[in-house]
Amino acid sequence: MSKKSQNVASVELEFKPARKFSKKARISSLAQYKQLHRESIKKPATFWAREAKELLWQKKWSKVLDWKAPNAKWFVGGKINVCENCVDSHLINGRANKAAIIWEGEPGESRTLTYRQLHREVCQFANVLLAKGIKSKDRVLIYMPMVPEAAIAMLACARIGAVHSVVFGGFSAESIADRLEDCKAKAVITSDGGYRRGSVVPLKANVDEALKKYKGVETVIVYQRIGEKVTMKNGRDVYWHDEVAKVSDQHIAKGFDSEHPLFILYTSGSTGKPKGILHTSGGYLMGTYATTKYIFDMQDDDVYWCTADVGWITGHSYIVYGPLANGATQVMYEGAPNFPDFGRFWDIVEKYKVSIFYTAPTAIRAFIKAGDQFPEARDLSSLRLLGTVGEPINPEAWMWYHKKIGGGRCPIVDTWWQTETGAIMISPLPGCTPTKPGTATLPFFGVDAAILDETGQECRAGEGGKLVIRQPWPSMLRSIYGDKKRYRDTYWSDYKGVYTAGDGARKDKKGNFWITGRLDDVLNVSGHRLGTAEVESALVSHDSVAEAAVVGRPHEIKGQGVVAFVSLKGKFTGSDDLNKELRNHVGKVIGAIAKPDEIHFTTALPKTRSGKIMRRLLKELVATGEVTGNVTTLEDVEVIKSLQESLKK
Ligand code: PRX
Repeated sequence: MSKKSQNVASVELEFKPARKFSKKARISSLAQYKQLHRESIKKPATFWAREAKELLWQKKWSKVLDWKAPNAKWFVGGKINVCENCVDSHLINGRANKAAIIWEGEPGESRTLTYRQLHREVCQFANVLLAKGIKSKDRVLIYMPMVPEAAIAMLACARIGAVHSVVFGGFSAESIADRLEDCKAKAVITSDGGYRRGSVVPLKANVDEALKKYKGVETVIVYQRIGEKVTMKNGRDVYWHDEVAKVSDQHIAKGFDSEHPLFILYTSGSTGKPKGILHTSGGYLMGTYATTKYIFDMQDDDVYWCTADVGWITGHSYIVYGPLANGATQVMYEGAPNFPDFGRFWDIVEKYKVSIFYTAPTAIRAFIKAGDQFPEARDLSSLRLLGTVGEPINPEAWMWYHKKIGGGRCPIVDTWWQTETGAIMISPLPGCTPTKPGTATLPFFGVDAAILDETGQECRAGEGGKLVIRQPWPSMLRSIYGDKKRYRDTYWSDYKGVYTAGDGARKDKKGNFWITGRLDDVLNVSGHRLGTAEVESALVSHDSVAEAAVVGRPHEIKGQGVVAFVSLKGKFTGSDDLNKELRNHVGKVIGAIAKPDEIHFTTALPKTRSGKIMRRLLKELVATGEVTGNVTTLEDVEVIKSLQESLKK
């Protein structure tokens, strides 16, 4: 964070919601929030039973929560169809002809699907999946561009009880193969390609490559987005449009157990292997529904736009499940924010009269850099509420967002949450919470957040510690797919019965949470999680690399940049060409987001006498160029000098 932004923070500007906004909001006073929050923590069953009545249950639950740490069952005995809640329910509540998804392709075409049309398409595609032999609990991998069919595919899986695992379109063939292997997927839904910054991303070709490694996939369904010729394997690969033409557009949604698995989403952890975060049905839907309703204060005449990709949890919870369960009208955009230039997002806001806009701090920083002329040339007066997610927002970015995009009138909800939490956990409620640039403010209903020190004591105001959640919440992850032990060890072993988020935070005197970032070896690059170990293992899989160590460095736009230190095998020497080759290699193994910003060749890495890489030293070196801490455990002190030299180059 720059000096300037620290100054802004230290002034501690506070913004209260405008009376006009509060009057219409669901929660309009802090007293009302506090009373409901207290109830939700002291009597979660009462609170959530009331909220859950707004969902459509095929069979009512008999008990709200069954909790034997770390295993939670929510709405025990209830039967629900998540897809029915997101789609069918709106056909009987007057929203049948309301726009559900207003889609804009990167080249500029536009398409609107009403809830009735969405229903028809989802039913049809559910029938395709059934015709292909996909059954309840089968895993289906989805690797799609940002087109409505991505949401349709997810909803169709949910409708028939299949478990989807969406892989972000920027991930590589190897990443797809690893995920297929881990969840043993039976089918893949993909597309011939998608548009990104004017080029075509070859999605089907990546799937073909992955399927050379993993042989368990019986069916590949290919949606034609581009119309390019792709290789189709006889007996395995079929086109979406051919298959839907063969089936009925009628399908009756059956209820599944509230704890029926809904999806697996892979995310980075502190080891080289991404974790398959498992979410289930009733609780997840409850969490995403309630947070969308209260935090985005979703009203029937809103036009909502979340700029995330469906490949991330934000896309799952706040493009697909939360907004659709609320019967919202939303914009979905296929492409890049800067195509053809940095005015694209603001063109979309103007064109569709977007009223709620949810994006990431990294995008805001890129817009600041591009210049004010882009938003200034557009009419953004339809906006009434702004949100951010993915990383701490620096006060400069917050203030710019507030002034230049929100015209000084829109509350900003800085939402803290994770793939694991399923739904937003800490955030202002826009009609009542005073906001300050840089804090995600207060816990949502049912979220018993706290900051603990190493001994498990709650930290005092202003004191930094570990962010934890002390009670189960409906949308919490249920496990790491196929690895209950890793689930327990990663999240529930620091303090008994308490969830550790992996983030550092402090609380101010008013109870606002200030999130300071990850405490583990996970980087946050452009709001996306990336394990240092993952990048390291990608680097050492290259022939030339003997050892690698990866750390983060503050980055003006991305939040954190990836810095790699690499020592080469005997016969190799560092060069610009090898540098480039290694970056591309990481792109090939993981995906473009993981490519190191810098690679430094070094003869050795700083290690303890027992051979452990001293990452702390590397972090300090890249941040300050110096090492100040204790180096007595270092095996070879000379290494530091050589690293300093390589950083200067
Ligand atoms: O470090 C926190 C950061 O993003 C991590 C979760 O990443 P992921 O599971 O990919 O989900 C991102 C979208 C929910 C957290 O552990 N993070 C997310 N939102 C915020 C944040 N850090 C600070 N402020 C936020 N609003």
